[in-house]
This record gives sequence, C-alpha cells and structure tokens, in this order.
Amino acid sequence: MKIMIIFDSVFGNTEKIAKSLGSSLGAEEVKVIRVNDVKSDQLTGVQLLVVGSPTRGFRPTKPITSFLRNIPNDSLKGVKVAAFDTRITIDEKVPLILRFLSNIFGYAAKPIAEKLVEKGGELIVPPEGFIVKGSEGPLKESELERAVAWVKQIKP
Ligand SMILES: Cc1cc2nc3c(=O)[nH]c(=O)nc-3n(C[C@H](O)[C@H](O)[C@H](O)COP(=O)(O)O)c2cc1C
Repeated sequence: MKIMIIFDSVFGNTEKIAKSLGSSLGAEEVKVIRVNDVKSDQLTGVQLLVVGSPTRGFRPTKPITSFLRNIPNDSLKGVKVAAFDTRITIDEKVPLILRFLSNIFGYAAKPIAEKLVEKGGELIVPPEGFIVKGSEGPLKESELERAVAWVKQIKP
C-alpha cells in the first residue's frame, strides 16, 4: 500500500509524531514529507493519506491550508484519509479566554479532515490531537505512544 504522511511543524513536535506514525505503519511504501517539499504529482497513486499540522490560532498552518486547498476536487476519491494535530494542554494555567476560544474554535485536525473528505477522501479514523507542553513543546509524556496506538487503527 502506498502511504503518504504530510506534515507541517514549526518547533519539531508535529514532525516527531509524523515520523513515529511513519515507522509504525510499517507498509512497503511510506513517505513522510514536510508540506513545503510535496510536489504536485506525488499524490498520484497514494492509497492512504495522513495530514498533520500544529494548531496555530485554532487552525492548521498556512502551508497545510494552502496544500489542502490546492488538491484538485475529487482527486482523493478511493483514497483513505486521516488527520492529526498538535496542540497545547488546556488546564487551569491557561488563560480563561484561551480556554473559551479553544472550546469554540477548536483545533487543526478537524478542519483538515473535513477538507480531505471534501476532496473525495474516505475518513477512516476520527481526527486526533496530540499534546505539547507550553506552546513550543516538547511533547507531553506518552504522546508518541498514543500516536502509535492511534495509527494502529488505520494500519493496512
Ligand atoms: C502563534 C501560535 C499560535 C498558537 N495557537 C494555538 C491554538 O490556537 N491552539 C492550541 O492548542 N495551540 C496553539 N499553539 C501551540 C501550538 O499548537 C504548538 O506550538 C504546536 O503544537 C507545536 O508543534 P510544532 O512543534 O510541530 O510546531 C500556538 C502556538 C503559537 C506559537
């Protein structure tokens, strides 16, 4: 099965998750590629597409958003898709206004999944978020293990 994991990452945390998903999938052909390095013809023949982004301002990054926008309509027909993000811990230390806005506007994984489905993809697992400590990371303990468990649900 031809699998592609496309990610963006500013501080390296989403990249770590993407690479760990890539090695856990263990298929013959898994490519883990930073969004800015994806060439337009590279999606051809992909059977499983996983897209991940840091949550920035409640949304995916600009490169991920424009990558998704530029996928031709219906070109993901017959392609299995999945989406993930990284995000901050929402606990009592986070300002109330940010907790409130995060509740309303959410995180990057859901809009990524919606866009992949809009382009024809078949969502095979609910969108998932992985937690970083502070705003730049590192990843919270055991998030890499949780990522591996998440990807097991989509293992071909
Ligand atoms: C400018 C900026 C905006 C951010 N906005 C959000 C946000 O809306 N919600 C959230 O949960 N985390 C937010 N974060 C935290 C990022 O999600 C975090 O930096 C990211 O998950 C780290 O992933 P990366 O190392 O791959 O860049 C923000 C961080 C920065 C620097």
